[in-house]
Amino acid sequence: MATVTFDHATRVYPGTERPAVDQLNLHIEDGEFLVLVGPSGCGKSTSLRMLAGLEDVNGGRILIGDRDVTDVQPKDRDIAMVFQNYALYPHMSVADNMGFALKIAGTPKAEIRQRVEEAAKILDLTEYLDRKPKALSGGQRQRVAMGRAIVRQPQVFLMDEPLSNLDAKLRVQTRTQIASLQRRLGVTTVYVTHDQTEALTMGDRIAVLKGGLLQQVGTPREMYDTPANVFVAGFIGSPAMNLGTFEVKDGAAQVGSAQIPLERNVIAGMTEADGGKLTVGFRPESLDVVPAGTPGSFQVETNLVEELGSDAFLYGSLKGGVVGELSAGDSDQLIVRIDPRNVPMKGEVINVAIKAGQAHVFSAATGNRLS
Ligand SMILES: Nc1ncnc2c1ncn2[C@@H]1O[C@H](COP(=O)(O)OP(=O)(O)OP(=O)(O)O)[C@@H](O)[C@H]1O
Ligand SMILES: [Mg+2]
Repeated sequence: MATVTFDHATRVYPGTERPAVDQLNLHIEDGEFLVLVGPSGCGKSTSLRMLAGLEDVNGGRILIGDRDVTDVQPKDRDIAMVFQNYALYPHMSVADNMGFALKIAGTPKAEIRQRVEEAAKILDLTEYLDRKPKALSGGQRQRVAMGRAIVRQPQVFLMDEPLSNLDAKLRVQTRTQIASLQRRLGVTTVYVTHDQTEALTMGDRIAVLKGGLLQQVGTPREMYDTPANVFVAGFIGSPAMNLGTFEVKDGAAQVGSAQIPLERNVIAGMTEADGGKLTVGFRPESLDVVPAGTPGSFQVETNLVEELGSDAFLYGSLKGGVVGELSAGDSDQLIVRIDPRNVPMKGEVINVAIKAGQAHVFSAATGNRLS
């Protein structure tokens, strides 16, 4: 087992100017499950492929343990990769699929058999070892792909969206299986996904990338509670955090009819470039529905209520606010978590207040966290 270190690792694809991954610095502990997450094209696969040795590193270096592997052949890095398209060999049995890499490496037959059987036991595949992939369900095929990686007993597992071919229910089931399997095996794992829920539920730590640049690294809790900038704030959490840019007057942000008091160090962090404005974020569950006229409250007109059984989310517009000044994720509306047993009608106006200490404040100019 081993640590993994990206040290200013940079990849510029031939014929492009902007690095796909720009000076990535990331240290992954021995046995850690690190999730690389971000929107499409942000450089997740490129980072993973640099670590695997499938992509040249144009600047900086990559270490596995203390060993600089920047120029080491992929086969000599002692890693195993699970891809989104895990393409099993259709004409081979499950056992042969799982043992194929060992066979190529010239491992004795008896040892291959033993390692395959061990992996099959861990993955609940024992009774399928003689079957062909076409006679398996999607989830079982995915486990065979995992098995192929496990039998190699590598120092590091690399996984690139391994669940995206599964249906929603199986994805949820399999993600818990992979997370608990990784903990049991204790093999350092770098896992790529664009799905923030997978990141939050699976990772010991999460690294968020955007446009080839690392935005923040932290535990799921840290990422959720103290996002370092507006991008991470909007990306982590579902439904997304409400974010809007508001005028600051008399030490408070003017959100609709409400004044959100700001701490002195937040105000002190403002610069000329902010133009007297700040970006304020609050999660759907950070709003309380309160009686009209409550100090610090503002009005929201109900456009739609999404009922999920255990929860309900109200999508609405800020009354007395400028249209479009407040939005959550892809929605141009304000989202409020409400009591699912007490749901307002469309058009109804509710009064909400941000719970004490639950507003996130960012620079309007840079998007960096000030609170
Ligand atoms: N072979 C290549 N040549 C030129 N540009 C590339 C090449 N491969 C990827 N890119 C570019 O590099 C950037 C990062 O790509 P990458 O595949 O790492 O993204 P990703 O985060 O894995 O995205 P996705 O979630 O869609 O898989 C993208 O802008 C992509 O267009
Ligand atoms: Mg990718």
